[in-house]
Amino acid sequence: MKNWFAAVLALVSLVVAGTVVLRQQVPVEAAAPQAAKTGQAALTAFDPQVDKLLAQMTLDEKVGQMTQAEQGELPKDLSDVDGLFLGSVFSGGNSDPSPANTVQDWTEMYDRLMARSLKTRLKIPILFGIDAVHGHSNVVGATIFPHNVALGATRNAKLVEEVHRLTALEVRATGIQWTFAPCVTVPQDIRWGRAYEGFSEDPALVAELGAAAVRGLQGTNLADPLRILACAKHFAGDGGTVWGTGRPEANGPRRPLDQGDVTLDEPDIKRIHMQGYISALKQGVGTIMPSYNSWKGVKASASERLLTGILKKEMGFEGFVISDYNALDDIPGDFRSDIKTSINAGMDMVMVPSKYKEFYRLLKSLAESGEVPMARIDDAVRRILRVKFAMGLMDPKRNQLADRKLQASVGSAEHRAVARQAVRESLVLLKNDKKLLPIAATAKRIHVAGVGANDIGIQAGGWTITWQGQAGPVTKGTTILDGLKAAVKSGTNVTYAADGSGAAGADLAVVVVGERPYAEMFGDTTDLAINKDDLAALAAVKASGVPYVVVVLSGRPVILGDIATSAGAIVAAWWPGTEGQGVADVLTGTYKPTGKLAFTWPKSVAQLPLNKQSKNAAEALYPFGFGLSY
Ligand code: GLC
Repeated sequence: MKNWFAAVLALVSLVVAGTVVLRQQVPVEAAAPQAAKTGQAALTAFDPQVDKLLAQMTLDEKVGQMTQAEQGELPKDLSDVDGLFLGSVFSGGNSDPSPANTVQDWTEMYDRLMARSLKTRLKIPILFGIDAVHGHSNVVGATIFPHNVALGATRNAKLVEEVHRLTALEVRATGIQWTFAPCVTVPQDIRWGRAYEGFSEDPALVAELGAAAVRGLQGTNLADPLRILACAKHFAGDGGTVWGTGRPEANGPRRPLDQGDVTLDEPDIKRIHMQGYISALKQGVGTIMPSYNSWKGVKASASERLLTGILKKEMGFEGFVISDYNALDDIPGDFRSDIKTSINAGMDMVMVPSKYKEFYRLLKSLAESGEVPMARIDDAVRRILRVKFAMGLMDPKRNQLADRKLQASVGSAEHRAVARQAVRESLVLLKNDKKLLPIAATAKRIHVAGVGANDIGIQAGGWTITWQGQAGPVTKGTTILDGLKAAVKSGTNVTYAADGSGAAGADLAVVVVGERPYAEMFGDTTDLAINKDDLAALAAVKASGVPYVVVVLSGRPVILGDIATSAGAIVAAWWPGTEGQGVADVLTGTYKPTGKLAFTWPKSVAQLPLNKQSKNAAEALYPFGFGLSY
């Protein structure tokens, strides 16, 4: 019996070894990453069906597939959807359905658009895209999860995957099948207004969590009706721009960093800024969005090296490349030459919110003149159709309208419980040398201060209900104050004053300070300052002599100044989203803090850019990976 077993074992190990050797021998560019690891069929597996459809398509229908319009810019009767054979429609950060921002109105809008697209000769359904970047974050009532800066501090890939699986479910509940996420940026200078969209300054952590996000969103089969198409963005180097090279503004100074220039040589831009794309590709990500920034003076949306040489040829990307919002306008030249440059560089679909008719007309003329070869048009449409076939959009037996049974999942208690866990695991305890935390069960009165302690909009941050995000009761959720009131022991009274007055006599004060919501270029900063009203509230509490804990609500590390020495305890809470009770769980000890900094925390802006590999990394206030517990 033993000999027989040994023989089988030998045979099995031979087979395994053989497989490993084979895989190692296959050159990278030939191994379609989509087929690797996830078991998801390589997108090229759909080419026989794609080519059959492609052969039937007119130029008008092909150009239409490459056009993405903004839903709010369409005529009321939606006739452009089928009239121009649009491949996709999207909602930007401020774009809601009419008459209101409700799950039902989103669903009705989606169904109307889908129905129009199915009136076309070939019945190729639209893809509807949206920035569901921390939950279905345009939609009132949706679960809003912590932003990526917070998820990075959890170091928990499984949790990140689950957060994105639930996001996919809530997005699908409105019919929508595509999110422009995850952002796999690797921010190197936290003065950048989009630093919070990144998981970390560390490429390896971004690669790990970016892959988890894609897995959660797409699952392992793009045809899964409970998953959605992901979009890794912004390719490449969005978080690596040089200070002072940011976006020029018509009526003011250029932005310091956003949409600036990356000067790294190719090995370094790959090593630092492309690891998230390699891991996303291995998970079978279906779309990739080029960045507004330029690389060595060439806009990413115009760079054949980036979009074709590296992404499609070297990395073997088989899905399609979707431009950023009007990103072609930043390419030097007029709109027609911008389109010619970008499509020939490898752009496959263009996000032209309002001027989609002009885009359609110009691209058609470029194809007719041969300035954009038909082979390039066919390659772009083939890539778009591969994704649509893989998603089951071309299955005539499949109902492409929204599955309204899913609506109950939007903002459900189960989803909010997962969001609460993500909040708990994302908090980083930076200081507690007087053991003020966890809040003593014997405390008679806890005094809470700071506008952000009682404001859902502030705790959710940018990209929430609106593009920039905003203070106020913008959606359903639990504030930090509400969470504390529910969490403290019955004998403890929780009082509150936004301005910090009334603290005297309390056992402990909790002061919430930080930033107000922002997005993109509006978040570029020279000072990483804490909001002045928050500092005033802190001063009032300090003057009362009551020991105090500082909770920081921000999209990134901020300059703490003397708070670092004067506060008894400091907790980084980032932008936790709707479930503020996760913060209370940590403050009261229901959950012991486990978060670790995913970004280096500077003492002063003079140190920036400052990362774990910087020469002066040891001079940081708190280093990458830092985090205390109870
Ligand atoms: C924005 C962002 C991009 C987003 C797109 C659509 O400008 O750069 O991340 O997906 O437009 O809203």
